[in-house]
Amino acid sequence: MSAQREHFSSRIGFILAAAGSAVGIGNLVGFPVNAAKNGGGAFLLIYAIFVFLVCLPVMMAEMAIGRKTEKEPVGAYKALGGGGMNWNIAGLLGVLTPFMIAVFYMVLTVWIFAYIAITLSGNLSYLASPASFGEIINSSYIFGAMIIVAAIVNFILAAGVKDGIEKAAKTLMPTLFIMLVVLVIFVLTRDNALAGVSFFLIPEFDKITPSVVNSALSQAFFSLSLGMGILITYGSYINRSTDIVNSAKLVAITDTAVAFTAGLMILPAVFSFNPQVNPQELSDSSVSLIFTFLPKIFLALQTSIGYFAASGVAAFFFILVFFAAITSLVSIIEVPVSYLVTEKGKTRKKALATLMMTGGLLALFATVSFGMVGFFTEFTSYAGGTRSFFDVIYDIFYDTILPLNGLLLCLFVSYRWKKHNLSEELATGREGYKGSFAEKYINFSLSTFIPVILLGIFLNTVAVKFFGINIFG
Ligand code: PHE
Repeated sequence: MSAQREHFSSRIGFILAAAGSAVGIGNLVGFPVNAAKNGGGAFLLIYAIFVFLVCLPVMMAEMAIGRKTEKEPVGAYKALGGGGMNWNIAGLLGVLTPFMIAVFYMVLTVWIFAYIAITLSGNLSYLASPASFGEIINSSYIFGAMIIVAAIVNFILAAGVKDGIEKAAKTLMPTLFIMLVVLVIFVLTRDNALAGVSFFLIPEFDKITPSVVNSALSQAFFSLSLGMGILITYGSYINRSTDIVNSAKLVAITDTAVAFTAGLMILPAVFSFNPQVNPQELSDSSVSLIFTFLPKIFLALQTSIGYFAASGVAAFFFILVFFAAITSLVSIIEVPVSYLVTEKGKTRKKALATLMMTGGLLALFATVSFGMVGFFTEFTSYAGGTRSFFDVIYDIFYDTILPLNGLLLCLFVSYRWKKHNLSEELATGREGYKGSFAEKYINFSLSTFIPVILLGIFLNTVAVKFFGINIFG
C-alpha cells in the first residue's frame, strides 16, 4: 500500500463522484425509454427491486475491495487473490473493460458536444432534419469536437483525485440536479404533459416478459457503473472511517432518483411539445432517441414559445446530458490511469498522455466507423449482420463483458477473498454491521443468487448477440 495515495477530501465528495459516474446518458435517456416501452410503473418496480436487492451488494463489494487494497482492479485482484493466474485475468478484464467502454462513450459524448454547438449557433431546425445526424457524425468538425472533449477530460483528470475528479463532481453534479429540476418543471407545466406522465407511470404488468426483466437488470447494472472497475478504483480513494454501506445506498438512491426524474422530463416533453407523435415510435436505442428524435421534439416547441426559446431549451437539455456524460467519462478513464500509476509506476501526466494517445486512436477508429472509412464501417459480421468497429466494442465490452465482470467479482469476494473479510471491511466505518440483517443479506446474496442471475444474463447476451438466439424468448 502506498502511503501517498490520494484520497477524496470528504465523504460527500466521494458520494458525488460515484454518483457522477453512475448518472450518465443511460439515466437521462436510456431509462425513460426503457420504462415507457416496457410496462411503465411495472418496469419501475422491477428496476427498483434489482437496484436494491441485486446491484447494491455488488456495489458495496466493489468499494470494499478498493478500499481494502488501495488499488485499482489489477492490483486489487492480485493483492487479494494471492497472485493466481485466473484472478489476475479477472483483474486485467477489470481494467481493459473500462478502457474499451471509454472509447465508445467518448464517441457519444463528442456527438453531444457537437449538438450543443449546433443548437447554440442557431441551427436547431437543421438538427431536426432527417439527414442531419448522419451528416454531423461524418463531418470533419467531429474531430475538432473530439479534441475539445479530450482536453476537458484531460484537464479534470490531470488535476488528480481531490482537485480534479472530486472538484468537477462537486460543481457539475449539483448544477445537473438543478438543471434537471428546472427542465422537469418547465415540461410539466406545458399542455398535455400529463399524458406523458401517465404513459411513464401507469403499470402494465402484461408487458413484463423474461426479456424485459433481463433488460431491467442490465440497465440497472450498467446505470450504477458496476463491473467497470470504477467503484473499486474510487473505493481505493476513500478513507477508513467512511461508511461504505451507507454511501453505496446514497449513490444508488441518487442514480435511481435521477433516472426517474429524467422520465418525468422526456416523456411529458414528447407528448406535450409534439402532440401528433405516436409514443410507440419511441426508438429502441437511446442513441437514436437523443440524436434524431428529441431534436424534432424540441423544434416543435417553437409553435408555442418561438424558435429562439426552443433552441434555448434544447441547448439546456444537451448541456445537462453533456455534464452527466463528462463525469461518467472521467470516472471510467480514471481506472486505466490509476492502473498505469499504481502498477506501472508512471506519473499521472504520463499515464494520461499514454491513454489519450492509445484510447484516442481507438476512438478515432470508432468515430470513422459510421461510413467515413469502409474498413471500420464494415469491420466484421456475426449473427447475420455486418458490424462496425463501434458496434464490436459495444457488443463485446458493454453488453457481454459487464455482467461477466460482475459475476467474477461476486465469486472472487465470496470464495477467494472470503465473506468474513468482506464483513470486516464493511464493518469498518459502520458500527453494528457485524451480525446485522444487512451483513447476512449481503454475504448470502453475493455467494448465491446474484452470481447465478449474472451468469444467466451473460449467457443470454452471448446467445443473442453472437448467435441470434434469445434464451428468454
Ligand atoms: N452509468 C453510466 C450511465 O448511466 C454508464 C457509464 C458510466 C458509462 C461510466 C461509462 C462510464 O450512462
